[in-house]
Amino acid sequence: MKRICVMGLGYIGLPTASVLATNGYQVLGVDVGARIVETVNAGNIHIEEPGLHTVVRAAIGSGNLRASLEPEKADVFFLAVPTPLTADKKADMSYVCQATERIVPFLEKGNLVILESTSPPGTCRDMLKPILEKSGLEVGKDIYLAHCPERVLPGKILKELIENDRVVGGFDTLSAQLARDIYASFVEGEIFLTDVTTAEMVKVIENTFRDVNIALANEVALLCESLGIDFGDVARLANRHPRVNVHTAGPGVGGHCISVDPWFLVEQFPDTAKIVHLARQRNDGMPHHVVERTMEFLDGVESPKVAVLGLAFKGNVDDMRESPSLDVIKLLEARGVTLAVHDPFVKNADIDLLPLETCFDGADCLLLLTDHNDYKYLNPRQVIRLMRKPVLFDTRNLLDHEDWREAGFIVRVLGSGRT
Ligand SMILES: NC(=O)c1ccc[n+]([C@@H]2O[C@H](COP(=O)([O-])OP(=O)(O)OC[C@H]3O[C@@H](n4cnc5c(N)ncnc54)[C@H](O)[C@@H]3O)[C@@H](O)[C@H]2O)c1
Repeated sequence: MKRICVMGLGYIGLPTASVLATNGYQVLGVDVGARIVETVNAGNIHIEEPGLHTVVRAAIGSGNLRASLEPEKADVFFLAVPTPLTADKKADMSYVCQATERIVPFLEKGNLVILESTSPPGTCRDMLKPILEKSGLEVGKDIYLAHCPERVLPGKILKELIENDRVVGGFDTLSAQLARDIYASFVEGEIFLTDVTTAEMVKVIENTFRDVNIALANEVALLCESLGIDFGDVARLANRHPRVNVHTAGPGVGGHCISVDPWFLVEQFPDTAKIVHLARQRNDGMPHHVVERTMEFLDGVESPKVAVLGLAFKGNVDDMRESPSLDVIKLLEARGVTLAVHDPFVKNADIDLLPLETCFDGADCLLLLTDHNDYKYLNPRQVIRLMRKPVLFDTRNLLDHEDWREAGFIVRVLGSGRT
């Protein structure tokens, strides 16, 4: 099991391929993006992730990592391709199917295939097995199949790739053991073996748990606004109970996981996954709420301009997939509001990103949507000089509100009914 082929060189595939390479495996990273392949072969990276550049450079420099547009024969194949949603909130498994089809001509007896992409429960058994068996090899007899979901946090991927506990689900016992041996070569956390469908369900449920809890926090935040009290106080005090953990409220849920994976269960089990579905609707509704409140602050303002701080779905990363900021921006534009958007991390956005001062210039509301640390260091006394109307709407409860009030701002916070 020395030669590894990793299909997909994104946030998961590239760190995994590089870590495997620096642990002595001969790794071929495969991607459909020619520029990605070129970038990686030059020892560079196409995504922002702390420490990744160093590991990729080391892996390429050692000769253990190569990138290519085409797969080759290997002992182990990792599938780390996207599993997004279609427009009607169904699992788009086309990338997983295509990547699996592409390795079929290279499969040989004894090979192990590991699906890392988060997938609806049943994917390995019902979707991957029939595709892999087009090779003429039987899964569980000639070749082995496992699912090992990823739990890493963007921004801490390299640390968590090594330190997190892992769940390895095998199509059969030998598949699970073979996959465990690969992970054991670089994972310092505990590795738990189970069957393949349980592993798929574990991953989807981890994200669903978080989505449902965030939805509850968001719902409580809305209730607090109606009651004229502060969600921050309620959550802080409720969390002094030893068995309560009220999550954080915010402008919605983004990213490639939490806002996506629960829909897999809603699609598969529409009659049963009711709480899951409601939670998704609550979280998807938050951008509308943010826009409604913002429009209240702009009432009576002619040709309003809003300075939007943050496009990424969460703080200190460049990932804007499914970001609630995108929905807020679209909805505000539809209401005729002029927007000036800033993000210190995001680079390849379709939206024009502007320097902070340009955003503040003549703005009627400062709408903070992403909790990037950089924003904590804004000086309200300098910002207020540039703005037309000094209103701050902090949807992340990030800033020092007393300081902003003292500087002359009208401060509003998501989840707070206090004025
Ligand atoms: N990003 C995370 O933090 C994270 C965490 C846990 C799980 N996951 C899951 O991991 C999987 C991969 O996510 P990601 O964030 O790495 O996605 P990504 O979009 O960053 O990367 C996927 C890469 O796969 C490539 N690709 C697409 N089709 C291909 C094909 N047929 N052959 C080869 N390459 C192909 C794309 O060009 C892209 O570079 C998803 O299922 C995701 O839900 C992601």
